[in-house]
Formats: sequence, structure tokens, C-alpha cells
Amino acid sequence: MIQVQNLSKSFQDIKAVNDISFTIKKGEIFGLLGPNGAGKSTTLNMMSAILKSDEGHIHIDGNLINGHAKTCKHLIGVVPQEISLYEDLSAYKNLLFWGNLYGIPSKELKDRINKTLALIGLLDRKNDLIKTYSGGMKRRINIAAALLHHPKVLFMDEPTVGIDPQSRNHIFEVIETLNKQGMTIVYTTHYMEEVERLCNRIAIIDSGKIIAQGTQAELKELIPTKESIQFEFNLLSENDVNQLRGRLPYPLSQNKNKLLVECTVQELSKVITTCNELQLSVEDIQLNKVNLEAIFLSLTGKQLRD
Ligand SMILES: Nc1ncnc2c1ncn2[C@@H]1O[C@H](COP(=O)(O)OP(=O)(O)O)[C@@H](O)[C@H]1O
Ligand SMILES: [Mg+2]
Repeated sequence: MIQVQNLSKSFQDIKAVNDISFTIKKGEIFGLLGPNGAGKSTTLNMMSAILKSDEGHIHIDGNLINGHAKTCKHLIGVVPQEISLYEDLSAYKNLLFWGNLYGIPSKELKDRINKTLALIGLLDRKNDLIKTYSGGMKRRINIAAALLHHPKVLFMDEPTVGIDPQSRNHIFEVIETLNKQGMTIVYTTHYMEEVERLCNRIAIIDSGKIIAQGTQAELKELIPTKESIQFEFNLLSENDVNQLRGRLPYPLSQNKNKLLVECTVQELSKVITTCNELQLSVEDIQLNKVNLEAIFLSLTGKQLRD
């Protein structure tokens, strides 16, 4: 559905996007994960022809996008990072304005606005002025505005930054509903939990470059660290550890009263049962998960969130 090939963009001497390539299949939720300043918005802005690339090609549904705003307009729905609504107009009137920009016939438009407001859970607030809305509600109206013209793909640029948890969940549900209906979605964020929850495939971007891409399982293969669980005991002797070694099929390493077991959460109960049998009392348990944060750290030496 979307092909991005060798895309680059500089602002004066800043290389904001540096030779990135990826493809997105129809019906996927593709996550662009990276810290602030990584180049996420610049990439999305080129993909929606808001910005012209210096180099590279973008194809969406067979159309060459490269700066062709007219081609994009019908294909793409864009939810920008900055909220763009008229504060002194109602949600309904804001959406009328957006729909008219897309030339949707007025009778059809009214129906679409109501359906879209229902989808985002704000139909009952449609006549309230935007200035009475919370940040999260405004963001949901922005999403509605991007959907009125029935685009084939939806680009969302950090849609949950600075909003309340309830709106955040609403937005996730809307994304999942749209995706079930077949919508292809590109989602940028610096929150790894969000891509873990939503995305089929992920590209990790840092300093304008894609440093890894694939499914979550593929990304987890990239680093040598394995999932492990740390158990802390009141007292743990060498003899105890040897006994545990005899009974458990997982690699173990002892550090004083702490024991690191290379096993998964599913295997946790087996370890606890064995400890009980040996009358070793577990004081504390800590999961060391291999998540996208760990992958980012391993690949860049930096935390995702600074
Ligand atoms: N219009 C612009 N003029 C100059 N520099 C810009 C402009 N837009 C983005 N940048 C720079 O390009 C880099 C990438 O920015 P951006 O794409 O906004 O990152 P992200 O969305 O991942 O936070 C940053 O260093 C940013 O300061
Ligand atoms: Mg951005």
C-alpha cells in the first residue's frame, strides 16, 4: 500500500531524515517509534506532501506522492501533531468546515459527520464549542476531521501526547475499529507501550535514520538479551542453587541472595513450585522483559525518553 524509498530531507545543516526506506502493507498499523527530534513528523509530512523531500520516492496505493498534494488529498487522512480547530465554533461546525474543504456534498457530509462523531464517542457533545473541550476531546475531533473524506490510509502524528488516559483509550479503540474495517494506519510516537499495543510492524527511528524495523518478535531477535526473572531470597546458599540447578531446565546465575533465572513469565510457576519444595522462601520477584525500550537502548546507547 505504501512504499517509501531512500527518503531524505535536510533543514539547513540538519539532516532531519536521512535515507530511510520502508514498505507498509494494506491493513497494517505501522509504527514509527523514536525520541523527540528523531524525524518522525518530517517523514509523515513528506508522506502527506506537506513537505517536499530532497531525495527519494513515496508511493501510496500506486500513486507517486513526492510533493503532489492534490494526489494525496483523497488518499490520505492526516492527524497532525498540532491540533488545528476553531475554538469558537462547535465540533459539528468545525467538521462541516473540514468536509467542505474536501468538497463532500452537504447532505452526504451531515451523515458522515454524525457517523464519525459516533465513532469517536462525541456525538452527544457535537454542538458544544471546541473551547469547552478537553485536550483529548479536541484530539478526537482532529481524528474525525481526518476521516470525513474516507481516506485509504490514515497518518497519525503522536496523537496521544498530553491527553488524559480516558481519551487515550478512546483513541486506541478508534484505531482498532478503523483497522478492523481495513484502514491502513501509520502511527508515530515516542511511547513504546503504544506501538507494542497497536502496531503490526515497527520502524525504530533515531537521528533521521531507521535503525531497525520488523515485527515485535523480529525486533526482539536483534539483541542478545533474553527474557529473565530475578528472584530474591531471605538466604540463598550455593547448595540451594545447586539443588535448583538439578531440578530446573533454565540457566541460573546467583548473586548473593539473588538468583537470575532465564525463563519466561509462563514458566514462573514452575520455579516457584520448585523453590517451595526446597523450602526456599521467595522475598521478591522482578521481571526483566525484552521490550522495545531495551532494544532502543541496546541499538543506540540511549533511552527512548530523555
Ligand atoms: N521546519 C524546520 N526547520 C528547521 N529544522 C526542523 C524543521 N522541522 C524539523 N526540524 C528539525 O529536524 C529534526 C527532526 O524533527 P521532527 O521531524 O519534528 O522530529 P520528531 O517528529 O521525531 O520529533 C529535528 O532536529 C528538528 O529540530
Ligand atoms: Mg514530531
